[in-house]
Amino acid sequence: MNANETYKPMTNIALTGAGGQLGLFFRETLEKHRFNFRAFARDWDITSENKSLECIQNANFDVLINCAAFTDVEEAESRKQICFDVNADALDRLSKLCRRHGILLVHFSTDYVFDGKSRQPYLETAPAHPINVYGESKLRGEEMIRASGCPHLIFRLSWLFGGHHGGFPEKLEQWRQRSKILKISDDETSSPTYAGHIPPLVIRAIEKKLRGTYHLNSSGGCSRFEWASFYAKKAGWTEYDMQPTSMRSFQTKARRPHFSTMNNQRFQAESATTLPTWKEATIDYLHQKRPGQLGEC
Ligand SMILES: NC(=O)c1ccc[n+]([C@@H]2O[C@H](COP(=O)([O-])OP(=O)(O)OC[C@H]3O[C@@H](n4cnc5c(N)ncnc54)[C@H](OP(=O)(O)O)[C@@H]3O)[C@@H](O)[C@H]2O)c1
Repeated sequence: MNANETYKPMTNIALTGAGGQLGLFFRETLEKHRFNFRAFARDWDITSENKSLECIQNANFDVLINCAAFTDVEEAESRKQICFDVNADALDRLSKLCRRHGILLVHFSTDYVFDGKSRQPYLETAPAHPINVYGESKLRGEEMIRASGCPHLIFRLSWLFGGHHGGFPEKLEQWRQRSKILKISDDETSSPTYAGHIPPLVIRAIEKKLRGTYHLNSSGGCSRFEWASFYAKKAGWTEYDMQPTSMRSFQTKARRPHFSTMNNQRFQAESATTLPTWKEATIDYLHQKRPGQLGEC
């Protein structure tokens, strides 16, 4: 979608989790296109039933875009309760409120609902079998929303990057400062998705009155190693040594799927949009970060 595209005047939007990576991009897009919206960060704790009731009853929202989530995959293993409170139980209450008040709930889930055993990019209809607590909690949240009967859009995202923390590319930059040799896993494959691409696509889906669950990720897939190598070349790095390794060597608390690339054809067909590839997503991120300073591939 063209950044200068004009949107139809629409609705009264509530945005939760507005201080997070994706939330900040939504805020920017909604402001830029002069949508009528209210952004909430921690001032709307989505786990508080009273607060959710108060926010929804006191305003006439048509759409609730929920970017609030517990997203620390490692921490989730030792803080299961709070992870489920935010990613599942809060969604149970929010979706029931949305149903009662006729509000469209827009929510984000993850490729980590899959176990990684497939060799084909996952379709929306593929069975979900999460292998870590974060993935379990996100799947539970999806199930709660569907069971509530509220009008909803659930977008599964993958390897989101590009916000204030920068995500994986920013980690690469930090690791490079600390060490001459970068060891990056080559047995973990998904689709790096630039968070700045998501809000216009979601707005398009709302305007086209889509409903249900969609995979909203960049096209194609790559390993972390391929992504890091591509990023380094495009960012113009010189004198670095990047080596492939297995994710087992990092001894993380949470297991991660070896393969979680998702098929995004349903979204592309129903929204009549072409989604960028993961390489285009990486380049767009670099352009936004340092305009005019890209290296050669
Ligand atoms: N990041 C990824 O790679 C990725 C991949 C696939 C899917 N997703 C999904 O995409 C969505 C957006 O992720 P993101 O990367 O933008 O995450 P993020 O940067 O961690 O943002 C989440 C926001 O939610 C807030 N939050 C946490 N608990 C809350 C609560 N009880 N009430 C209100 N706000 C709360 C956090 O605040 P604090 O910072 O104060 O805790 C943070 O600002 C999430 O649903 C996530 O599961 C992300």
